[in-house]
Parts: sequence; C-alpha cells; structure tokens
Amino acid sequence: MKPRVILHNAVSADGRMDWFRPNLEAYYELAGRFEEDVTLVGSGTLLGSPEGETISREPDEIIEARKADSVDDRPILAVPDSGDRVKNWVYLRSLPFWRDVFALSSSTASPEQIDRFKRQRVPYFLSGRTKVDLAASLSAIGGRFGAKTIRVDSGGTLNGALLREGLVDEISLLIHPQYVGGISPRTLFRAEDLTAADGVIDLELAGNETLAGGLIWLRYNVITKSLIGLPED
Ligand SMILES: NC(=O)c1ccc[n+]([C@@H]2O[C@H](COP(=O)([O-])OP(=O)(O)OC[C@H]3O[C@@H](n4cnc5c(N)ncnc54)[C@H](OP(=O)(O)O)[C@@H]3O)[C@@H](O)[C@H]2O)c1
Repeated sequence: MKPRVILHNAVSADGRMDWFRPNLEAYYELAGRFEEDVTLVGSGTLLGSPEGETISREPDEIIEARKADSVDDRPILAVPDSGDRVKNWVYLRSLPFWRDVFALSSSTASPEQIDRFKRQRVPYFLSGRTKVDLAASLSAIGGRFGAKTIRVDSGGTLNGALLREGLVDEISLLIHPQYVGGISPRTLFRAEDLTAADGVIDLELAGNETLAGGLIWLRYNVITKSLIGLPED
C-alpha cells in the first residue's frame, strides 16, 4: 500500500522558499511530530545544503551500513537522483538523522551509478525512463520498509512533481511573517502551468495554529487529486 505522503515546508507569507529567514527550530520541532518512517529529500535540497559539496563527491572511505537494530526508530533517507549527482551515500548514512539511506534512480541508470551503489552498499530502486517514477518508488518504499508515513523535505520541484502526479495526502505549511516577491519560480509548488481549472488541487483545512513570533502552522488534507487539466507530455 502507498504510504501517507506529507509535504512539510517553511515559506514566506507569499509562498516563496528563497531569501526569507526560516525559523529552523520551529520547522524541525513540527517536522518531528510526523514521526515519519521515511524522509524523502530532493537531490536539489541535499546538493544545495552547506554539505552539498561533500555529498557530490566520491567518499574517501566506505563505511559499512549499520547492523539492523530493532530499537533504532530513526527514519530512512530516500533520495530521487536520476541525474547521478549524489555520490557520497556513506556520508549521508553517517548523519545522525537517519538510520540508513535508500537511493531512487531511473531504469536507465548508468553502470557507474549501479557500481557506486554496490560499492557503498546502498539499497536502491530503479524505475522510470529518464526521471524516477515516483508512484512506483513510493510503493516500493512502502513494501520494502513497511513505511506508513513519508515526510517530504524538498524544494518546490519535488513537491511539484508529487502534487501533479496526485501522490500527496497532506500539506503542512509553516508560514513566516515575511514577504519576498520576485518573478522566478522559487515557490513551494513548481510545475508546468495548468491548461484547465480541473487540475486545481482542492484542500481541506485540517489544522490552524498561531505560534510564537507570528508564525502560522497550517495543515491541509488533499481531497482531490485530479490529473485533468495538466499539460500534455
Ligand atoms: N523552506 C523549506 O521548507 C525547504 C525545504 C527543503 C528544501 N528547501 C530549499 O529548496 C531548494 C531546493 O529545491 P529544488 O526545487 O531546487 O530541488 P528539490 O525539490 O529539493 O530537488 C528536486 C528533486 O525532484 C526530483 N524530480 C524533479 N522532476 C521530477 C520528475 N518529473 N519526476 C520525478 N522526480 C523529479 C529530482 O530528481 P532528479 O535528481 O532525479 O532529477 C530531485 O530529487 C533549496 O534551496 C532548499 O534549501 C526549502
């Protein structure tokens, strides 16, 4: 069964993800409440982080995967990376946030990439011709790890692909009292423009809290996942 997919993002009051000053303490405190089995992180988010350079180069040494530990309830880190940009999986595995990693790539992954997964003993799943098939990957995550909840920690690109494919169940937004503006698409939902209103996603308000510092935490359930009105491939 497909796990429940939750997008959790910090945004400015005009829906942007750039320039504003996120309250990271509040963001991660709320993220922790989801107690996800798997954190799905966009490759753009990992590579754009301060550790991006380390993540994009081959590791100096191979660190063995931790032995399965029944009391380790940390989530698995899953990363769609059809472009073979993440090269240091052992570094990601060594971080304290996750108990192991899971690589998602396309079925046309290069032999070098498969070799890298094997050398670094990274479990992986191949799907999709050029980009990762997200629906198939979510099912594989559910089957392999028995995952019931996936929290997505990504920018607007992965959010957009998941939303347009009707794969999101819940949206959690931490809205900051800041306005950014701009015409570049650095919003929390990056996707092709619709061609008809049928593609609009209807939401049901599931929670609404005002937090310290003028932050607002909104939670929505996705109630329609219409694929009509989307641009032709
Ligand atoms: N404010 C917040 O809450 C928050 C949270 C997280 C990140 N961020 C920020 O977001 C920025 C990065 O965002 P981003 O939008 O550039 O990148 P991103 O969403 O983090 O990464 C793009 C991901 O989408 C995948 N993808 C793209 N098109 C796809 C498709 N058609 N089918 C399947 N998968 C697809 C890519 O896979 P491939 O590699 O296979 O193409 C990649 O894993 C960073 O600046 C980060 O700090 C903000």
